[in-house]
Amino acid sequence: MNYRHSFHAGNFADLVKHALVLWLLKERQARGPVSVLDTHAGAGLYDLSGDAVRSREAEAGVARLMTAEARPPLIEALAAEVAALNPQGGARFYPGSPVLTARALRAEDSYRGFELNPPVEALLQEALAPWHNATGRAGDGYEEAVRAARGLKAPLVLIDPPFERPDDYVRSAETAAAVLGADRTACVAIWTPLKDLETFDGFIRRLEQAGLSRVLVAEARLRPLNNPMKMNGCAMTIVNAPSGADAAAAEICGWTVQALGDPGGRAEVWRAG
Ligand SMILES: C[S@@+](CC[C@H](N)C(=O)[O-])C[C@H]1O[C@@H](n2cnc3c(N)ncnc32)[C@H](O)[C@@H]1O
Repeated sequence: MNYRHSFHAGNFADLVKHALVLWLLKERQARGPVSVLDTHAGAGLYDLSGDAVRSREAEAGVARLMTAEARPPLIEALAAEVAALNPQGGARFYPGSPVLTARALRAEDSYRGFELNPPVEALLQEALAPWHNATGRAGDGYEEAVRAARGLKAPLVLIDPPFERPDDYVRSAETAAAVLGADRTACVAIWTPLKDLETFDGFIRRLEQAGLSRVLVAEARLRPLNNPMKMNGCAMTIVNAPSGADAAAAEICGWTVQALGDPGGRAEVWRAG
């Protein structure tokens, strides 16, 4: 396992993912208690003064978010979370999905994140220590989330693999199908890079063939996707997307492309299936 999210934390793709996660969480909280399952939790909280300085991805992402003017509400919501972790100003600390979610939990909500890499799992435990209803666990998130979802009502499941293994697309789609197969009221959000569109098409086709409905694809392409070796775009695919998700995704992807992308960039929100 070579992937280290600490190099990528706070990049444009994290901003798209986390702004949408915040919106999904709030949307479900408006309807009752929420149980979040996070298949690939990562470290929980990132100090961007380390690996992220070398990659310069956070410099082109969250650093620009925090100095941007006229942020639309769903982008402002993420900026407020970053600001709360950096009372001295700036953006040295950036929340991963575990801390972002844990901070938004009410007493009746819960979060369970899974992490396969032992040193990262130790960091996850440490980051979640302040919250009694947010836990980090060691294990394969695909299997664990399906098992955990069986005991929950209408869980919100986040799938965010490193995509360093060729089967991550297949396993993400299978996990979504298994969760929705057990509970049609679950909501599953899957993050993917946009590099090679053949691979992405195959992933969407797999979701369609599994009979999954209300599939929303939110794409943020910062630059034309003409180099399959570079991540010039990303997508969040939401299965059983609630109403309002289209507008939320358009606001988030639209701002990201316009504020952080090149003139040839494009934001697109569409429904599959
Ligand atoms: C993209 S990062 C997760 C970032 C996190 N979701 C966030 O938004 O802050 C992917 C993480 O998944 C872990 N990982 C890889 N394969 C896994 C698996 N099968 N189950 C659980 N964790 C896994 C990696 O070690 C890495 O920390």
